[in-house]
Amino acid sequence: MGSVSLKIGDGTARFKRATICSSAVNILMLFSVITTNLFALYAFTSSPDHHNQNHLHQPLHDHKNITLISQHVSLILREIDSSQKKLARMEKELLGYETIDLSRPNIASELKLFLQHHQLPLGKDSKTGITEMVASVGHFCEKSADLLAQYMTYKVSSQCPDDWSLGQKLILRGCEPLPRRRCFAKSISKVGLLSFPASLWKPVSDKIVTWSGLGCKNFDCLNSKKLNRECVGCFDLGKGYENQRYVKAKNKNDFVLDDVLALGSGGIRIGFDIGGGSGSFAARMAERNVTVVTNTLNIDAPYSEFIAARGLFPLYLSLDHRFPFYDNVFDLVHVSSGLDIGGKPEKLEFLMFDIDRILRAGGLFWLDNFYCANDEKKRALTRLIERFGYKKLKWVIGEKADVITGKSEVYLSAVLQKPVRVS
Ligand SMILES: *[C@@H]1O[C@H](CO)[C@@H](O)[C@H](O)[C@H]1NC(C)=O
Ligand SMILES: *[C@@H]1O[C@H](CO)[C@@H](O)[C@H](O)[C@H]1NC(C)=O
Repeated sequence: MGSVSLKIGDGTARFKRATICSSAVNILMLFSVITTNLFALYAFTSSPDHHNQNHLHQPLHDHKNITLISQHVSLILREIDSSQKKLARMEKELLGYETIDLSRPNIASELKLFLQHHQLPLGKDSKTGITEMVASVGHFCEKSADLLAQYMTYKVSSQCPDDWSLGQKLILRGCEPLPRRRCFAKSISKVGLLSFPASLWKPVSDKIVTWSGLGCKNFDCLNSKKLNRECVGCFDLGKGYENQRYVKAKNKNDFVLDDVLALGSGGIRIGFDIGGGSGSFAARMAERNVTVVTNTLNIDAPYSEFIAARGLFPLYLSLDHRFPFYDNVFDLVHVSSGLDIGGKPEKLEFLMFDIDRILRAGGLFWLDNFYCANDEKKRALTRLIERFGYKKLKWVIGEKADVITGKSEVYLSAVLQKPVRVS
């Protein structure tokens, strides 16, 4: 188990590839260890009558000759060192941790300009110690060179091509942050935005979001689809279930928001919602004067624009990114099935550690209807959570019909409190 992606899609494929890569690296590693050992064995045991011209393969005339033996040993060590270096190089190539080769023919000139280092005019800055400004770009951009070239070919200072979905494709392939900066994103007039808090539960007009690159062209179409576990009719704020979430429990895995807030004994003021669908969690929290940032990508639907139209804060960021928040700042982190599990267990660990980092001691981690595909995954997740030493304030494992497949599936819901760790 262990892959974590915001909304399945391409992200999952990337982790699969990473797994294949790491098996290749493992095989290489094994191969290298075996060859070095065989080599060492050969060097020590080669018999005197093999007269190779290679110095290393010179026979040991006298086994008591320490000088000779130490020469052999140092040669072997050098050989091991060089194969380790070679292995590191191969691993680097496999994982794609290379700098972008700007001498390649299909590199857009705008990308070259963006990546150029800029020396500070007055030399080294005494406070920060830096001497130049560098632009950052995801290391995996290199692996999607063609898409990147397409994305970075645009007219400076004019309208950007209408291709946000191309940008998102790059993000899902690990090319984040995106290097496009010098054009004007397509703008649409947002007429009819309501003032807060009326904006929280009123329908959003089809006319004020971008539909390019999406299968659906209006919210009715989106509401007729089961987009994912977090969004079945989630753009329908009037009828349907969306406006009952977090206030009415449908089954024992659903916690009522006020009950959870009571566990925080009044200290819940700011929160972070991961994979938060259309933002209804943040909306309910806003009614209780709690500010929540909703993390979402626009997979198959205009989530970000919809959340913003409700007067809430959308954070457009993949879960492979380290959260752009300082340590110990949130009172609450809410996570639901937007976190899909697959691939390597470390993938989920990276995410759990980052959630732990941004949550303050005494803050609440709300795992809300987390879909556990099977028993083994449930156990692994439980083990992982227990390692963090959180206090279990609520812990419910239950079965319910899956909204996507209709089959009965196992879900875990929990409210956990981060402990104070003294080092
Ligand atoms: C040991 O080997 C070295 C290098 O071949 C040689 O110069 C030296 O005379 C040898 N010493 C003895 C004691 O055989
Ligand atoms: C939220 O804040 C407003 C303004 O301070 C206050 O009038 C209202 O009662 C608060 N609501 C809740 C649920 O605390």
